[in-house]
Amino acid sequence: MKIAIIGSGYVGLVSGVCLAHIGHQVICVDNNPEKIKKLKKGELPIYEPGLLELMHECVKKKRLSFSGSVKDASAKAEVIFLAVPTPSKPNGDADLTFIENVAREIAQSMDSYKLIVEKSTVPAETGKKIRRTIQLNLPRKFKQGHKILLDFDVASNPEFLKEGSAVHDFMNPDRVVLGVESARAEKLLREIYKPLKTKILVTNTASAEMIKHASNSFLATKISFINAVAQMCDRVGADVIKVAEGMGLDKRIGRQFLDAGIGYGGSCFPKDVEAFIHLSDKSGYNFSLLKEVRKINDHQRLAFVKMIEEKLWNIKDKTIGVWGIAFKPNTDDIRNAAALEIIHLLQAEGAKIKAYDPKAADHARKALKGVAIAQDPYEAAEDCDCLLLLTEWPEFREVNFVQVRDAMRQAVIFDGRNFLDGDQLKECGFDYYGIGRGRS
Ligand code: UDX
Repeated sequence: MKIAIIGSGYVGLVSGVCLAHIGHQVICVDNNPEKIKKLKKGELPIYEPGLLELMHECVKKKRLSFSGSVKDASAKAEVIFLAVPTPSKPNGDADLTFIENVAREIAQSMDSYKLIVEKSTVPAETGKKIRRTIQLNLPRKFKQGHKILLDFDVASNPEFLKEGSAVHDFMNPDRVVLGVESARAEKLLREIYKPLKTKILVTNTASAEMIKHASNSFLATKISFINAVAQMCDRVGADVIKVAEGMGLDKRIGRQFLDAGIGYGGSCFPKDVEAFIHLSDKSGYNFSLLKEVRKINDHQRLAFVKMIEEKLWNIKDKTIGVWGIAFKPNTDDIRNAAALEIIHLLQAEGAKIKAYDPKAADHARKALKGVAIAQDPYEAAEDCDCLLLLTEWPEFREVNFVQVRDAMRQAVIFDGRNFLDGDQLKECGFDYYGIGRGRS
């Protein structure tokens, strides 16, 4: 199948590379010339485990190419996936300008049947708007009064991959959701995903869009729920890790996404929850549960900083070491990372910050003013009054804690992800504080 992917960010690139890997002919498009130049040179603009090797393999087999032109790529493809950003507007609404612009460009150069597929997370009803934009912008020769003479379809195929395990998630999905309005679109999409041998759920476009909204918001709700439980655990002397384990053993609940901590971040959950709240408000339903989910998430960061203040006494002029800046491990992505907010709050109190992240250092250097970026975890801990673990990179479990303790001014660790072995650290002489571990 000949496929064009418009937008070569996390979702677009991973989808493009994986679709080429399973046998399709793919062109990945981006309007950033630097990105395309890099990709053509065989370099990745993002860090994602396993993606680089797979990309080289597909380019070598001549199944994958890159282009800066929507027009050229869509002319060559039968199926066009839209994976452009849908950022939040200040009011929380999703900004769909990129989607509209791309739809217009595709329409203007269309001269045969095309299936246009939304992969970006978009508010319900975007499919209809794309359809209308295409109708309005088709070349004159395909219009006879109000009649459209060129057949095309718009479908929704939301992506559920997670950063850090994106290639694996794409190749082994729990389900593939197809929101279609015609048998032709369904047939094409089934054909594309056939090699994955997974459960395919077929529905209409609006329901597919809603599945994505509901899934991400539900997962965010699960995280906020356990974070609220963690607050209670601290107050009654319970341990949230055991509580999550006990809850998770109930198959109806499940253990995943019950890790309490400093809240969810990243490019999806905060934006998607916001967009769903906005969509609900706009459509006349007050989805108050989701507003509380967002509030609990914000509170986790504030509560963490408050705990540091309580234990450290004065923050002003204290040196604080930070382990982990990325919004989660195995990615260099710092968009909406909890670490950024926590660092800003502590800087506002007058703290000096030294931070280390295995992959996100370059992005952090640009995004964080006045923060010293360390080369390794030991340098970040040196002469610090306390250490914060903000991203659960596996390498933080492997460090020599005796060396860390001796390098610090005060051996105090705040573990924002309940990732380290608190008992072992206490034995080693640290003051250790986790989230919801029962400090009443
Ligand atoms: C998410 C969805 O999982 C994915 O299906 C969708 O396509 C995009 O959004 P992603 O943003 O890559 O994927 O990250 P995810 O692994 O879901 O984590 C999101 C945030 O939640 C991270 O900041 C993570 O640290 C946090 N989290 C996750 C918790 O705080 N606790 C948990 O138990 C799980």
